[in-house]
Amino acid sequence: MSDHDLDIQTAPTGTAAANRLVAEAGRRRTFAVISHPDAGKSTLTEALVLHARVITQAGAIHGKAGRRATVSDWMEMEQARGISITSTALQFPYLSPDGQDCVINLLDTPGHADFSEDTYRVLSAVDCAVMLIDAAKGLEPQTLKLFQVCKHRGLPILTVINKWDRPGRHALELLDEIQERIGLKPTPLTWPVGIAGDFKGVLDRRTGNFIRFTRTAGGATAAPEEHIAPDRAHDAAGIDWDNAVEECELIAADDGDHDQELFLQGVTTPVLFTSAALNFGVNQLLDNLVRLAPAPSGQADVNGDVRPVDSPFSAFVFKVQAGMDSAHRDRIAYARVCSGTFERGDVLTHAATGKPFVTKYAQSVFGQQRSTLDNAWPGDVIGLANAAALRPGDTLFRDIPVQFPPIPSFSPEHFSVARGTDPSKHKQFRKGIEQLEQEGVVQVLRSNRRGDQAPVLAAVGPLQFEVTSHRMATEFNAPISLEGLPYTVARAVDPDDAEFVEKQVSMEVLTRTDGVMLALFTTKWRLQGFQEDNPSVKLRPLVAAGDD
Ligand code: G4P
Repeated sequence: MSDHDLDIQTAPTGTAAANRLVAEAGRRRTFAVISHPDAGKSTLTEALVLHARVITQAGAIHGKAGRRATVSDWMEMEQARGISITSTALQFPYLSPDGQDCVINLLDTPGHADFSEDTYRVLSAVDCAVMLIDAAKGLEPQTLKLFQVCKHRGLPILTVINKWDRPGRHALELLDEIQERIGLKPTPLTWPVGIAGDFKGVLDRRTGNFIRFTRTAGGATAAPEEHIAPDRAHDAAGIDWDNAVEECELIAADDGDHDQELFLQGVTTPVLFTSAALNFGVNQLLDNLVRLAPAPSGQADVNGDVRPVDSPFSAFVFKVQAGMDSAHRDRIAYARVCSGTFERGDVLTHAATGKPFVTKYAQSVFGQQRSTLDNAWPGDVIGLANAAALRPGDTLFRDIPVQFPPIPSFSPEHFSVARGTDPSKHKQFRKGIEQLEQEGVVQVLRSNRRGDQAPVLAAVGPLQFEVTSHRMATEFNAPISLEGLPYTVARAVDPDDAEFVEKQVSMEVLTRTDGVMLALFTTKWRLQGFQEDNPSVKLRPLVAAGDD
């Protein structure tokens, strides 16, 4: 009998179908890794999948240029530069040593030059984040920006201190930095045995055991590990074990023990130590993720009412990827399932328009590979092809209507004036800009002074401008030129104050399509100075204002 025969979506509570739905949701762990470029996110992703035994050798999923295993047919730009513009969703099953039979959904947050508003939007689709830190570098700017978004969403965060096989900072010093700079109390689950650069294993604070790791050739297979009881650990690791024990006593005395409630409330962050490259500590990360990270739970709608996971199907779109195949101009909308069961072919309702949406072309995305997706459960990501009508933040539902809150527009840091290079293409220019704005590719700001022919494009990352330029030329037949503006910081400003701000030197006020007026500043120091001189002008930070 197929899932459809069971008619799960309308199954009354207590039936086998409804129980299955709740059980499937409970098995899911949907998370993203937030990190600064080069902290080891791709390496860790490969290691996690390796440990879940989906692939037998690391290196087959998500490499950068040169070590990519499958050639993608995505945007020419992506091919030329060897970067991954899209957010991918990896899904793999995992049976933990405790016997928990789980499904892991790992959503990618692109880094490097491809950092964009999409990176932030992905975080609206996960239940937990893993903050990955390079042991030698500590907290870095991009990690901090992404952390702000997690904090805004109230996401629980697990911290992973990576590259412990290389010389780095002292573990206690890294904990202090986390607490001081982001205000989360670190509660280590494992503690390194051996200083950074001499990674012998970890002290598992739950069992007290020494978990000793052994290197494998090139880190290409899962590292063998031995669990050594505390009374034999000194013989195995000597002074390094004694130091680890002593440091753990200090941590315990300083309220550094894990507390599940405080973790879920975003007050504490459990910490683990890894070497993703050597596959050390990755098992422990996976096990703790399954044990501690929350399963999907009900999602609040625009009125604040929670739609439980066992309600009829609902999902929201967190990303729209267009232009992946220039021959077909296809467009994939990625939606996170919030409640109910999805079966390919279901006819859903698009909440924004009330129109039916047929899901014949649902796909799952695994690294660079796509395959047809037949079923999905709460916490899963579905890729919907031919989704021209769908925008980030849109809701899809079945049977009982629901509307989830919109995804906020994030604080832009890059601004450019867009002008059509061919005056005869004015209509195409307007249409293209409007469409790309609706899709969430860039934010569009306007003012009377600049006029409609030269709107200001605003972005979180400069790649958004490249995508806009590329699509304006190839898809809308309206090539544009972009003139960079010197602003880097935006704040929402009340209309009453706008005129005053506009009169200041090197400041400008522009209006976003949602009506919010943005005051733009060249630097955060300029903003600070202005606020000090004009305390009566109310400026509000936008989401993900980062560390400015
Ligand atoms: P990213 O996705 O966060 O940008 O980082 P990525 O995994 O690509 O890792 C960046 C570099 O750091 C890579 O080296 C990778 O091998 C290395 N790395 C990642 N994790 C560890 C670790 O735990 N220990 C050590 N020693 N190195 C690590 P690369 O030289 O840029 O590439 P490659 O030639 O090694 O592939």
